[in-house]
Amino acid sequence: MSGYPYPKNFLWGTSISSYQTEGGNLSSDWWDWEKKGKTQDKSGQACDYWNRWPNDHDLLSELGVQAFRFSLEWSRLEPKEGEFSQIALAQYREMLEDLKRRGIKSIVTLWHWTSPLWFQKKYGFHRREAVAVFVKYVERVTKELGDLIDIFVVVNEPMVPLGEGYLTGNFPPGYRSPLRFWKALNNLAQAYRKAYEKIHALKPEAQVGLSCLYNWYDAQGGNWLEKVANKIALGFRVNWFMEKVKNQQDFFGIDYYRLGKIKFDPQNSTYLGFRIVEDEKNIMRWVTYPEGIFRVLSTAWEKYHLPIYVLENGLPTNEGLEDQERVNFIQEHLKCLRKALESGIDVRGYCYWSLLDNYEWLSGYQMRFGLVEIDYATLARKPRKSFYAYKEIIKNNSLI
Ligand code: BGC
Repeated sequence: MSGYPYPKNFLWGTSISSYQTEGGNLSSDWWDWEKKGKTQDKSGQACDYWNRWPNDHDLLSELGVQAFRFSLEWSRLEPKEGEFSQIALAQYREMLEDLKRRGIKSIVTLWHWTSPLWFQKKYGFHRREAVAVFVKYVERVTKELGDLIDIFVVVNEPMVPLGEGYLTGNFPPGYRSPLRFWKALNNLAQAYRKAYEKIHALKPEAQVGLSCLYNWYDAQGGNWLEKVANKIALGFRVNWFMEKVKNQQDFFGIDYYRLGKIKFDPQNSTYLGFRIVEDEKNIMRWVTYPEGIFRVLSTAWEKYHLPIYVLENGLPTNEGLEDQERVNFIQEHLKCLRKALESGIDVRGYCYWSLLDNYEWLSGYQMRFGLVEIDYATLARKPRKSFYAYKEIIKNNSLI
């Protein structure tokens, strides 16, 4: 009998997103962004998931997951305003049917940061008309594919594209405007609420929510200024958006990665005299903090009392196939998640980010998060040590 059993119906899963894996999303605002030289690499064919998905779904079956989180690419589905691609609709349908046949629940993100270029040019979330346009897209995909979707994640981590698209200017549409940021924040929240209502009108029993990037901000040992800064960071990342949508969520979706400790350090400041504490040994300089997942789950449960799904949690390393660090990362985080379950928090599932190495936005292909390694020259897939370790956990429904 192993040491850390999980509840019987706990959903084990893994996540990807469309733009980061499918390849060839020519009609997307990000494709255009890349062409302008705004990113480290161009996404190109990415993992070619669009063509190799049957093989990748075989990997899911081998891993033994009960859930798979992936996203629909709006720009592929609606490359021109109001004109939906029958080919894309049919293929997503085929993919969803395939998951169903394999007994894998689909967790489907409807907007994982990328929009059709026409949408970004004509609207953009800072314009009020964007709300109706987004809801129309949601309505269409729910009508066409909703019967096969088990869990709807309407938007992924809204504060990331809002902050990067409207304050730092690093993501499309590339503005640095607090006013536009404010408008986009309110419009995206409204779009979310309306999408939630629309999905429920079409499919009353649907499970609908969003995912929130919820890292742990900790000012322990810091001075009052750092305490305030960490509070603001947490408010910005989590509360600003979540408070606007708290009555339209059937579950709380959490993406947890790291410790987000903010220090006052005028000499090495990255923002207004502050910087985030970094770990130089990590390729993205992220500070791993397994206990943080327990703290985040406890705080979210206390505040919202909704069933929780961890929809992303993962580690970037360049250890290759022998990724012991990733194995440890998964084990440690799952121990802390187990502690949350023991303390009565209703966590229903966990998805590791990511099944495959993939296109990491501004940083490109150098950052590898996959349980499966991709050789970008040949696109060959090779499961890593962490793939087999996670497979064992799923098979036993327990940590060793
Ligand atoms: C995003 C993913 C991204 C991952 C790692 C998450 O915040 O949803 O798209 O690849 O973090 O940075």
